Formats: sequence, C-alpha cells, structure tokens
Amino acid sequence: MKTTISSNQPLREIANVFLWLGIVYITWTFMHPADPYLQFTKEVLGRYFPVRYFLILHITAGGGAIILGPFQFWKRLHANGWKLHRIIGTFYLLAVLASSICAIILASTASYAVGWSYAFSLQVWATVWISSTFIAYRMALKRKFKQHQEWMVRSYLVTLAFVISGLLLRTPWVKELGSLADVGPSFFWLGWAVPIYLYEVILSARRKA
Ligand code: HEM
Repeated sequence: MKTTISSNQPLREIANVFLWLGIVYITWTFMHPADPYLQFTKEVLGRYFPVRYFLILHITAGGGAIILGPFQFWKRLHANGWKLHRIIGTFYLLAVLASSICAIILASTASYAVGWSYAFSLQVWATVWISSTFIAYRMALKRKFKQHQEWMVRSYLVTLAFVISGLLLRTPWVKELGSLADVGPSFFWLGWAVPIYLYEVILSARRKA
C-alpha cells in the first residue's frame, strides 16, 4: 500500500517538523530535572528510592514514546511503503508498555505520599494510556486501519497529556492555586480528557459531513 503526497504538503510538513521539535524540547526540559535521580542515592531519590528502577525506566521509555509518536502520523514516511511505520510503531508500543506499567507501579506506591486523589488520577491516566495503545495495536492486527488510526491519535493524546499538564502546572497562575496535591489531580485529568473530548467532537463533525 502506498500513500500519495499532495502539492500543499511541504508547508504542512515543515510545520509538523517544528511542532515535533517543540514537543522534544519541552519533554527534554521536563526530563532534565530528573537527572540527579541517576545518582541512585536515598537522599536524592527520597520517596522514589524503593521504586527507583521503575522510575528511571518510566522516564526513559516515556520520553521515547513522546518522541516516536508523531512519526506514526507523518505521511511522507508512508510514501515508500509501511515497513518503517511498523518498525517505529513497534518501538512506540514497547515504550508505552514499559513506561505505563512502571507508571502504574509508581502511582500505586510513591504517589500516595502526595495524596490519594493525586495517586488515583495517575493510576487512571496510566490505565487509559496502556489500554488505548493496546486497542490501537489490536485494530492494526485486525487490519481495521481507520479505527487503528483513530486509536493511535487517542493513544498519542494520552501520551502528550504529560506535556500539557506539565506546562499548565508550571504556570504562575496554576502554582498560585494551591499545592501539587490540591491542583495536580485536576490538571492530570484535564491533560488527557479534554484533548480526547475535542478529538471526539472533530470525529463526530466529520461523520455528519
Ligand atoms: C502519559 C502517562 C503518564 C503517566 C500516567 C505518568 C505517571 C507518573 C507517575 C505515577 C509518576 C510518579 C509521580 C509521583 O509519585 O509524584 C511519574 C513521574 C515522572 N514521570 Fe511520568 N507519567 C506519564 C508520562 C510520562 C512521560 C511521557 C514522561 C516523559 C519523559 C514522564 C516523565 C516523568 C518524570 C520526569 C517523573 C519524575 C517527576 C519527579 O521528579 O517527581 N512521564 N509519572
């Protein structure tokens, strides 16, 4: 199967490259403060110490999922066939699998130190992450490619929620609203639920058209 590229594609592709670079840059700035954790000492890791290996795998694989995801939607990559799409897709799947299982472990242990609703919102987010990605994969295996594409968009929106909630939680306005335990859960829910809701609105409008 081959994908054809329309004449107005180059501009859109340049915009996509900049968008991807923006996502990579923001992810890097969010990952960077976690560098000291690599010292693996109790003093630096604090409440993460008992689950330190899960934390490091979670961060590394999560970063990989964010960076790889956009390639799955890049039409030029499909222009010469689907082999590369399948290879990158497998790495994306493995990255989400590793990071989300670790996220469930972290959210069921270390996160309770912040609060119950903080831990619960992260547990649900991680479950939605792993399940939406699994459904996307199953749809590809069943060769239901339209549903596969839609579920991949949902899966990546859940991945991207890390950037959305992270950016919002760092704004001075949100910081003034209260502690991480107070405001974190609301912004974790918002980070994935609102983009997925908007995506469903778009899909519904397309179906009517
Ligand atoms: C998309 C779903 C994700 C979920 C459900 C999730 C869940 C979690 C959980 C439960 C923790 C421990 C939080 C705590 O106990 O305070 C955590 C920490 C962390 N996660 Fe994620 N995560 C996700 C995505 C990502 C991604 C894509 C990255 C990218 C690199 C990432 C990087 C981090 C970092 C750097 C920390 C440590 C934060 C700190 O220093 O306290 N996460 N995450």
